[in-house]
Amino acid sequence: MSQPPRTIEWIGDAAGFVRLLDQTLLPTQVEYRDCRTVEEVWEAIRMLRVRGAPAIGIAAAMGVVVGVGQATAPLALEGEESGVRGMGQTGMFAPRNAFAERLREVTDYLRTSRPTAVNLFWALERMAKHVERHLEKLPAEKLRGMLLEEALRIEEEDRGICRAIGAHGAALVGEGQGVLTHCNAGGLATADYGTALAVMFAAAEQGRKFAVFADETRPLLQGARLTAWELQQRGIDVTLICDNMAAQVMRERRVHLVITGADRIAANGDTANKIGTYGVALLAKAHGIPFYVAAPSSTFDLSLASGDAIPIEQRDPREITHGLGRQIAPDGIKVYNPAFDVTPAALIAGIITEKGIIRPVREEKIREMIT
Ligand code: MRU
Repeated sequence: MSQPPRTIEWIGDAAGFVRLLDQTLLPTQVEYRDCRTVEEVWEAIRMLRVRGAPAIGIAAAMGVVVGVGQATAPLALEGEESGVRGMGQTGMFAPRNAFAERLREVTDYLRTSRPTAVNLFWALERMAKHVERHLEKLPAEKLRGMLLEEALRIEEEDRGICRAIGAHGAALVGEGQGVLTHCNAGGLATADYGTALAVMFAAAEQGRKFAVFADETRPLLQGARLTAWELQQRGIDVTLICDNMAAQVMRERRVHLVITGADRIAANGDTANKIGTYGVALLAKAHGIPFYVAAPSSTFDLSLASGDAIPIEQRDPREITHGLGRQIAPDGIKVYNPAFDVTPAALIAGIITEKGIIRPVREEKIREMIT
């Protein structure tokens, strides 16, 4: 098993920069991209060069460190796409000095990069809170160092969290079984090791043999480009299928378990994940196959009563009309391109977290485990 490339990394001291694997180029090119400005970090998140809920949070945390060190040119805010509807609000503290002003500007700006994965807002809030009490007392250089420490802590914690998710979920994958997954919830979507894929990696490390079916995940093909690649690199038996083949594969009794990641989980367990996940959960229900979600506690948004309140990102129609390297739809066609959907809690057999498996998925069980 070869060592997987690093998803995201901070290079240098507090005056350093973010290095991330450009996931838009995978699996054919393994190239890194250095982000030395907060605008570059914002662009990398928006364009899915770095993607997956936990990795977006880590990138944003590092983006804060880059941003507070830059010359303080005003950042263009994209109000309408800001994530203020969910956890965290813009302007969480009143700026008292130039550093505080810049910190607020940078965090508000990064909030507008993508709206659905709550880890983004969670990480930004955590970064701001970390220095909040020191803003008037400490010099900018010291504050920046503190922010870097916190960003690195978020990254390091995520490594441990992913291993714990793998350990808690591994027993769900039995010898000789088939597991289906959608999108990419692997090492590429986290600091390392993943969430849904962590469960598979851990089961494989315990010596079990099983087969994974990876949905290709239209329109941006995270399943084909990233999940198939990651599982193949780790020597796990993986078969790529088009999204519309999942029902047939289930009907052929090749799938015994479905595991996906999550971008935001409401207090009642309703779960937003990559578009198509809800359909997979319905198919699993129809075939009597358990559908599990794997996610860290930072993906829960207990401020939202149900999935109805989760903001769903709408993306560029060209991802559908020009997604495969050439135009594949007529000029002027109307397109609807939601990037995520919400799977109702009733369809979810359990949520595998770093603290254990929440089962059955009910609000009181969630609050008991997460808070
Ligand atoms: O649009 P993406 O690629 O960021 O969507 C990613 C997903 O939907 C993942 O399943 C989710 O973020 C979990 S990652 C551990």
